[in-house]
Amino acid sequence: MSYLVVYMSQHGTTQKLATYLSQELDDKVRLVNLANEAMPDIESWSTVIIGGSIHMGQIQKKIRQFCELNEKQLLLKRLGLFLCFMNTEEGAVEFDTAFPESLRTHAVAHGLFGGELLLEKMNFLERLMVKAVRGVKESVSVVDEDAVEEFLRLIRE
Ligand SMILES: Cc1cc2nc3c(=O)[nH]c(=O)nc-3n(C[C@H](O)[C@H](O)[C@H](O)COP(=O)(O)O)c2cc1C
Repeated sequence: MSYLVVYMSQHGTTQKLATYLSQELDDKVRLVNLANEAMPDIESWSTVIIGGSIHMGQIQKKIRQFCELNEKQLLLKRLGLFLCFMNTEEGAVEFDTAFPESLRTHAVAHGLFGGELLLEKMNFLERLMVKAVRGVKESVSVVDEDAVEEFLRLIRE
């Protein structure tokens, strides 16, 4: 199998998880960060994995555009979708908002991975916001490692 992993990440959590997935998939893998690479042609890949994170209730715009522009082709691929977020009680709603219904229905692996708040990587305003909204005083991780492993199991099947 061949895997194209397309992602975006503000403070590195989605990047870390996308990198981990690509390392664990020992076949042909290409990792594409849409923040600094053009949208790849998905034609030659048998499996496509798309990952992003939620900020102010939204997934990255370029991830949304990638899904929309490639929807028809993605529906012909083996597909995995994953999301990083902190509102764990709202994870399913955020996942549904982040990815189009057609792709969610088609995907064989749905990764609700949780996330991290990394104060040292945030700018002043972001730090202020997460401290005010979530009462966070130090960096915190709620990455669901079991969900990551289950995602890998499903996407490899
Ligand atoms: C400014 C800011 C806004 C955020 N807004 C949300 C949000 O609306 N909902 C949520 O579940 N998580 C929110 N988060 C948490 C991120 O989704 C979480 O930190 C995630 O791990 C970020 O992954 P990334 O570093 O790959 O972008 C926010 C984080 C920051 C710093």
